[in-house]
Amino acid sequence: MIKLLAALLPVLTRTSSAHARRRAAAAARAGLFGAGALAVGWALAAASAARAQNPPPAAAGSNAPAAFAITHGPFLQAPSPTGITISWATSRKGVSRVEYRLESATQWQTNFPAHHGLIDADVTTHNVALAGLEPGTAYRYRVVSREIVEFKPYQVTYGATLASPEYGFTTFDPRKPAAAFVVLNDRHEKVEPLAASLAAVDWARVGLVFFNGDAVNSVESESQLYRCLVDPIVPPFATRIPLVYVRGNHDTRGKFARQLLNYFPTDSGRYYYTLQEGPVMFLVLDGGEDKADGSSEYSGLVDFDPYLHREAEWLARQIQDPAFQRAPFRIGLLHIPPANDPDPKFIRRKWLQDHLVPILNRGQLDLLICGHMHKYSLHPAGHEGRDFPLIIGGTETVIRGDVTREQIRLTTTDLSGRELPQLPPIQRRSR
Ligand SMILES: [Fe+2]
Repeated sequence: MIKLLAALLPVLTRTSSAHARRRAAAAARAGLFGAGALAVGWALAAASAARAQNPPPAAAGSNAPAAFAITHGPFLQAPSPTGITISWATSRKGVSRVEYRLESATQWQTNFPAHHGLIDADVTTHNVALAGLEPGTAYRYRVVSREIVEFKPYQVTYGATLASPEYGFTTFDPRKPAAAFVVLNDRHEKVEPLAASLAAVDWARVGLVFFNGDAVNSVESESQLYRCLVDPIVPPFATRIPLVYVRGNHDTRGKFARQLLNYFPTDSGRYYYTLQEGPVMFLVLDGGEDKADGSSEYSGLVDFDPYLHREAEWLARQIQDPAFQRAPFRIGLLHIPPANDPDPKFIRRKWLQDHLVPILNRGQLDLLICGHMHKYSLHPAGHEGRDFPLIIGGTETVIRGDVTREQIRLTTTDLSGRELPQLPPIQRRSR
């Protein structure tokens, strides 16, 4: 068997990076995949990567379990100049990898998702982070999953291997002279209008899509997240353009809310972070819940006050960062819009106005994009002490930004594709 493995490993190595080769070789030597024959099978699967199987689920009314299939995705997340995360789900538990290559090259590389020395396995949710990529570069990829039929401590029995069709993406590039993005918000599980909105978008040049909070009413289950958020975005854009999920207050509610980052991971592991594409430094911010922590609606299970203070401290540091200060434009995404009016129940808008707006003013923010109010509105710079314009998306709007080194041009459309009134173009400040 050892001889057979030795003979087959070169087959695997033709399609894998040196790092993956070392891992696979070690796995084969250590019997990580159980019996040697199983390692051989995985190696053969890596070499052949049968594509586009996605076998149909069992017939309606049948008691037979659904066939092993890719059920949701793949979709792109956590974009950066040197990395991206590819996510998908399978109908049964398995182990997965992503095969990828430069669009300009023929040699495939392989990346397995691994944590603390263990390859993610026996799971139906797959997130594979690619790292060490070239900025502003086109890549091709396919996702591969292998069913785990039985997982014993010393013997794992594998089933079928699936591969997706081939897709492409381009890594972010801070040196790029222009960028385009799209923002949707507050879709609240209304899948059909969401699909209609996405069908009306001209995707040419769009590099990222923000979901600016409240995709669901409360987070209840994995199937709900796939149905309301993932499935509608895969056909129109998400296999090639990354989703950036900004947490809204409804996304903090429900028994499954604590699992959200398992499905929408970020590089920082937090819901607030920066992201640069072309001339824009994006601030992805989290406004937490809209009412005070002690409100009876939360049943004693939220603790946003210290969390949001830590976010404010992070933001104050972030605006000092040289990359932030060098960026021609700075755009914030925050679900709950800051406001000056105190409200005894809905305290968060005033809190954000008092705690984040002064920092955003100091950071010379160029634009803040919010949602939450379910009504589209525009608030020019200078209103309520904010030195930057604020745009609040409605429940059926698509806000598109086209940014060069000189200006931000915004276009908002409604569900029928009609253009709505908009802020005038935002010119680059002299800093
Ligand atoms: Fe909201």
